[in-house]
Amino acid sequence: MNVAVYPGSFDPITNGHLDIIRRAAKLYDKVIVGVLTNSAKQPMFSKSQRADFIRKSTADIDNIEVSFFDGLLVDFLKRENAKVIVKGLRATSDFEYEFQMALVNKQLCPDVETVFLSSSERFTYLSSSIVREIGKLGGDISVFVPPEILDEVNAAMCKE
Ligand code: COA
Repeated sequence: MNVAVYPGSFDPITNGHLDIIRRAAKLYDKVIVGVLTNSAKQPMFSKSQRADFIRKSTADIDNIEVSFFDGLLVDFLKRENAKVIVKGLRATSDFEYEFQMALVNKQLCPDVETVFLSSSERFTYLSSSIVREIGKLGGDISVFVPPEILDEVNAAMCKE
């Protein structure tokens, strides 16, 4: 089985992430969306809320699994018997950081390959923090997040 991991904070999942997940699901037998709390970031949504949003947004895709991880990404891949990390590249500004991470992960685990999918043009500007910012200020986030989770994301942001 050719298993890939798509890692991230997903705070919350956006249509940009979903675009990468859908395309990766066509390339691999199974795609595990690995949810973690990036220690450099203070999440708005709990891990279980974030995973729940991803499950609801991907319910129509058969070969997707959602899982949590802590610690090193390469250790998570080993546990899951996965050899591929999928990442989305939105713009050249993502490249330097992503390239560095790919090299570090390769150094830590030479068997692992990082595969970059270029973000669809209409999502290149999108990030989770943009969604949080617009939502907190009462803006319309319906074009940014999957419709299946829109009400829940809005309701959670109103409580903030
Ligand atoms: N569509 C929309 N947004 C996207 C996107 C896409 N296709 N691709 C990336 N983004 C956004 C994310 O939402 C995130 O936005 P935010 O900063 O507003 O929250 C931002 O771009 C950065 O994304 P990403 O690089 O995936 O960061 P992350 O914090 O979500 O996850 C990990 C980073 C999980 C990949 C990384 O921290 C990791 O591997 N951690 C484990 C520890 C480890 O192994 N370290 C050693 C390896 S260097």
